[in-house]
Amino acid sequence: MTDTPAFGVIGLGVIGRQHVQRLTTPGAPGRLVAVADQHTGTAAAVAAEYGAEACPGAAALLSRPDVDAVVVAVPSGLHAEVAVAALDAGKHVLLEKPIEVTVAAADEILAAERRSGRVLSVASQRRFAQENQYLKQVVTEGRLGRITSATVEVALWRTQEYYDSGAWRGTWALDGGGALMNQGVHLVDLALWLLGDVAEVYAHTGLLAHEGIEVEDTVTVTARLRSGALMTFLASTSAYGDLPIRMSVMGSRGSVVTESERIVRFHTTAEEALPAFAPVDQQLAQLHDFVAAVRGERAPLVTAAQARAAVAFIEAVYESGRTGRPVVPAPAPAPVR
Ligand SMILES: NC(=O)c1ccc[n+]([C@@H]2O[C@H](COP(=O)([O-])OP(=O)(O)OC[C@H]3O[C@@H](n4cnc5c(N)ncnc54)[C@H](O)[C@@H]3O)[C@@H](O)[C@H]2O)c1
Repeated sequence: MTDTPAFGVIGLGVIGRQHVQRLTTPGAPGRLVAVADQHTGTAAAVAAEYGAEACPGAAALLSRPDVDAVVVAVPSGLHAEVAVAALDAGKHVLLEKPIEVTVAAADEILAAERRSGRVLSVASQRRFAQENQYLKQVVTEGRLGRITSATVEVALWRTQEYYDSGAWRGTWALDGGGALMNQGVHLVDLALWLLGDVAEVYAHTGLLAHEGIEVEDTVTVTARLRSGALMTFLASTSAYGDLPIRMSVMGSRGSVVTESERIVRFHTTAEEALPAFAPVDQQLAQLHDFVAAVRGERAPLVTAAQARAAVAFIEAVYESGRTGRPVVPAPAPAPVR
């Protein structure tokens, strides 16, 4: 492998094309070599536009010795199938979120990652915003004191046409859930990264503003964290109004409120001033992080185990919504010696 790893992109829909664009932008940390989609016409068109080679499907791309790493951007419920094949073919994998739609499927990916010795990271680009990096530092250093509570609101709007735009959208098998699994997972990951493991969740789910889908478009969760802190979490695709994604983290010595990354309130007993934050291309920042991990410089910021924890939280929420009972998320797998 040269300093700039050679990439393939598998799955050339909405987000896969963005990865293709990013990899072919001057200064990108990787080089695009090949693309694949289940629709060979799509692969041919994208390959021609971006100067890559079209492969007739994932297997053909994975058999290419000139590909070091792949971005996997197929529907969520196919992530294990493609990511496991990629790891077993010796490729490093940057996998779109969520890692998979069940903990059991995520575990197949973790097992393949272990036996392959390759790097796997999962898209969770919001962690790369400067404000969220700062928040992580502030919480880790204890500058908010003991974290006592948090609220997260991912109150979005998705049209009926959005759900109708792909047969996989809004299905249990391939989307794995609705507002929480597809959209809210970003903030689930952020909350767990900042606040630690979750001890128990209790949830209500509803399908309130869409039709013809199997999953929720509105979900509320109350959770108790291992640390003792309490959290509420709202995720919806039924909230028209272009609302910001809000997160509040409250502690015994300070509190922070963010709106779509922007820190709108920061108040601590130390009366610290906020540094200046620059906007970041979060997905490009994650690509750089992934490539650094592929080069062996460090572990990726978003690990497979952490991405699995987000799915364990979401799976517990859905079980609670179905049963009306509090649910303990699946524990982390035992560390391998
Ligand atoms: N990180 C983010 O912010 C973000 C944003 C959007 C989507 N996503 C994730 O990306 C994934 C794809 O979402 P999307 O909105 O781009 O979906 P999409 O339907 O627009 O694209 C999926 C593509 O995968 C192709 N495909 C399906 N099965 C395949 C297979 N077996 N082999 C090769 N190609 C296959 C389809 O033909 C399609 O072109 C999902 O997991 C989604 O959660 C992440």
